[in-house]
Amino acid sequence: MKILSVASEVFPLIKTGGLADVAGALPLALAGHGMHMRTLMPGYPAVMQRLAKTEVVATFDDLLGEPARILAAKHEGLDILVLDAPGFFDRPGGPYTDATAKDFPDNWRRFAALSLAGAEIARGLLFGWRPDIVHAHDWQAAMTAVYMRYTGLQNIPTVITVHNLAFQGQFGPEIFPELGLPPEAFSVDGLEYYGDVGFLKGGLRTAWSITTVSPTYAQEITTPEYGMGLEGLINARVADLDGIVNGIDTAVWNPETDPHIARPFAAGSLKKRAVNRQALVERFNLDDDDGPIFCIVSRLTWQKGIDIIAEVADWIVQQGGKLAVLGSGDQGLEGALLAAASRHRGRIGIVIGYNEPLSHLMQAGSDAILIPSRFEPCGLTQLYGLRYGCIPVVARTGGLADTVIDANEAALSARVATGFQFTPINADGLRQALRRAFKAYAEPKVWARIQNQGMKSDVSWENSAARYADLYSSLLAKV
Ligand code: ADP
Ligand code: GLC
Repeated sequence: MKILSVASEVFPLIKTGGLADVAGALPLALAGHGMHMRTLMPGYPAVMQRLAKTEVVATFDDLLGEPARILAAKHEGLDILVLDAPGFFDRPGGPYTDATAKDFPDNWRRFAALSLAGAEIARGLLFGWRPDIVHAHDWQAAMTAVYMRYTGLQNIPTVITVHNLAFQGQFGPEIFPELGLPPEAFSVDGLEYYGDVGFLKGGLRTAWSITTVSPTYAQEITTPEYGMGLEGLINARVADLDGIVNGIDTAVWNPETDPHIARPFAAGSLKKRAVNRQALVERFNLDDDDGPIFCIVSRLTWQKGIDIIAEVADWIVQQGGKLAVLGSGDQGLEGALLAAASRHRGRIGIVIGYNEPLSHLMQAGSDAILIPSRFEPCGLTQLYGLRYGCIPVVARTGGLADTVIDANEAALSARVATGFQFTPINADGLRQALRRAFKAYAEPKVWARIQNQGMKSDVSWENSAARYADLYSSLLAKV
């Protein structure tokens, strides 16, 4: 089966978050199921630089106002199709924002163009390769399904995966005439969203199937609390909604072979983690004593509950714990954490920024990872934590609830506990979970057992890739 995946970021070419990890790992996992997935992505400067050998496979004189080409390339097992459109993508900044972290004003055009290119590939633009299924990720690719629905490609199945409903790609109605769609596309059955143009809304309305990245989040987004205004539409489509939990790339995230950590280790040799812990203590200028090190590797945002961390930081230090934080984001939250660090030198260390290698050492050297997210479609850092013996302490929501088994009395005695969950998602909730974590840490045998159970949990793509393969097959059977 041939599948076209359309995504705005793909690891290892470009990454701002978990979407890239998923878009980069899923094609490799699906290959084992007889599926050939090609991935269409934008030709940002970082991507163009990283691709060694490319071949022009299509050209557009005018793709929503800019000349563009599609280049094919192979990269670390991925079969990449790059939309090379310098007018849209050759500029400084990140994938979505300029150097001052402001959204590019023409994001609607940039990602509509990506999506339109995806639809054209579905139409048969590439010589000798036409997908049986098109799989679009998040609002940046959602328009692929809309273009297909309104330009005569409604017989090719489409899947849209929601990685985060908070980002919807909503724009003023004045852009509609620029999108090259027939007037009926600006309707409740298409793009129209409270008088605006909603990219994600249109994708959710027009795709054959909707998935999100965990079963719990799939259920949550049917409620007003998590539905972000789209719960009505999602409820209407609940028969086509699926929650498939993310896996991780177990070759990239393997404590036995990880080149970014100070000392490789395995479940049977947890003592070797001490070398990584030492490296982390040095990197973050932490005191070299026995208290547990809690790490955070995250976008520093309200979604991720970073204000809750700031609120609980002093208390963690009073209990004898230490904090190592790697992340960037909201300036107010960065400031609150930096202030906590300057109050507690040696106990709290912060690295502001994005650092992929360091994110590996954090998992290998910390005792636990804190993830107090207010909502979390799946979350990947708890999965890395499980695999690295870095015990997750997580809010009970979304994929965090689905992937971590709380160390309550029953789970501890049944020897299945892999971490700590808490609710309500606030400072008191986190403190309650941390009290239990401190207690377990004081009993090295209990702690090691939770680590080992976590390291045994299956965080690979194996099961989930099979579920995507089943979904694709069931859609194809409907054609
Ligand atoms: P989200 O996509 O919502 O940010 P996920 O948990 O799904 O959350 O994925 C986050 C990904 O980004 C993980 O791979 C994590 O290790 C990585 N990450 C987040 N912040 C940083 C950072 N400052 N440096 C390096 N990696 C980071
Ligand atoms: C989004 C979500 C995160 C999820 C990731 C990959 O960024 O916030 O929970 O793990 O996508 O699916």
